Formats: sequence, structure tokens, C-alpha cells
Amino acid sequence: MRKPLIAGNWKMHKTRDEALQFIYAVANDLPSRQYVDTVICPQAPVLRDLVKRQGEQLRIGAQTMHEATEGAYTGEVSAALLENIGVDYVIIGHSERREHFAETDDAVNRKLHQAFRYDLTPILCIGEKLEEREGNRTEDVVAKQLDIALKGLGKDQVERLVIAYEPIWAIGTGKTATVEQAEETIAFIRRRVKETYDEAVSEQVRILYGGSVNPENLPAMLKTANIDGALIGGASLNAKDFLTMADAALKR
Ligand code: 13P
Repeated sequence: MRKPLIAGNWKMHKTRDEALQFIYAVANDLPSRQYVDTVICPQAPVLRDLVKRQGEQLRIGAQTMHEATEGAYTGEVSAALLENIGVDYVIIGHSERREHFAETDDAVNRKLHQAFRYDLTPILCIGEKLEEREGNRTEDVVAKQLDIALKGLGKDQVERLVIAYEPIWAIGTGKTATVEQAEETIAFIRRRVKETYDEAVSEQVRILYGGSVNPENLPAMLKTANIDGALIGGASLNAKDFLTMADAALKR
């Protein structure tokens, strides 16, 4: 049985005060880590503040990191520093990073290797654009992103990996994929992992859905065979909604 994971990607939202208020509001009411993993990914400057106050259940993730160990990369953040300040997760290859910051599949692959060199659990994001879905190319697009991202990773690494299937047309649009669309593509991703590695690995790897997830539409997603949780943008900014969604994972 894979443990469900509910992750909030705050993107470029919340000041330090707002972030701390959120942490205090959820800390005592989150489900036990024994049953559900909950993660918040805030803006980088408050990572350390949140790690210090994460409590027993919550874990903290970064929204991106650089692939190099160190060097002249103004503005970037290293895996070494993330590990050093107690961050546990890192989102890699979010579609907004790919679109606005020219992150390529090859860079995503190098970042995954780097995250695993440190003690970080990567949340690898993949997903198709609207015209790709409408052109029936979803599986080709997602397979290519996945194959390049996983190049050279060992079974033990992929077992620990989290994949988030985020169709780009569903992000921030209020237009969620249907449960059938999400489950179908996530089952495809799991089969692809099985073909590339083996059944044991594909049964271990957790695959989340992301794209306009909210407390209303999440429960049905969690009832499927393959969707192990969600990567949530907008709805994760609200403490009450985040708690409701973490609870839905506990009750699934
Ligand atoms: P929304 O939940 O706001 O659509 O964002 C999804 C997302 O991009 C999470 O990484």
C-alpha cells in the first residue's frame, strides 16, 4: 500500500507572516505521518522558518533547485543548502519552470540526480499542453518527459521518487481533469515505470495528480487505484482547505 501524499505548492505567494500563520493553523490538526505525508512548498526565503516550525507531521519542500553543486549561478539555490537547512522535498520540472525559465527535460534529469545525491525527495512534474491533449498526444508527451527525466536513475531512487501528473491546461484554470482522465494518464505513467524498471518499482512510486485540485474534487481522485495524492496550488494557500484535503487522504 502506497502512503498518500498531499503537497501544497504555494508558488510566489505568502509573506513570512502569512506563511507562519498557516503553519500554526495546521500544525496540530494534520493527520499522522504514519498514514499520510503532508508537504508545503513555500518561497525559498522562508524555507528555514517553516522547517523550524513544521512539527511532527508536516514536511517542507522547495519549489526548485539548481543542478550544480555550487558555483556562479546568481539567484539559484543548491541541493546542498536545501538538505543543510532541513528541507525534505523538492519540486523538479514544474511546468511553470519549464515555460518561464526554460527548464528542459535534460536539466530536469540532471536535477533529479542531484536531488538524490543529497537527502531530498524529488517531486517530478510532467504533463501535456491543451493542444497536445486535443491532438491525442498526451501519452507520447508524458512518456517522453518521463523517459528523459528518469535516465540513469536506479530502482532504489525511482521507488523513492514522487511523480506529479499536472496537465498544463488544468493548472490555475479551475478546469480540473476528470477523474477518468487523471486516472487513465497516471495508470499509463505507472505502466511506463514498470516497463522501464519492474513491477516492484512501479508499485512503490507515488504518483500525484495536480491541476485545480480543491476539497470538493479531491476525494473522488483518491478513490482511484493509481492516484496517490495531489500537488495543489491555489487551494493549498488556505489552511482550512489544506486540512480538509489532508483529511480526505486519511479517509480514502
Ligand atoms: P492549481 O492547483 O492552482 O491549479 O496549481 C496546480 C499546480 O501547479 C501545483 O503545482
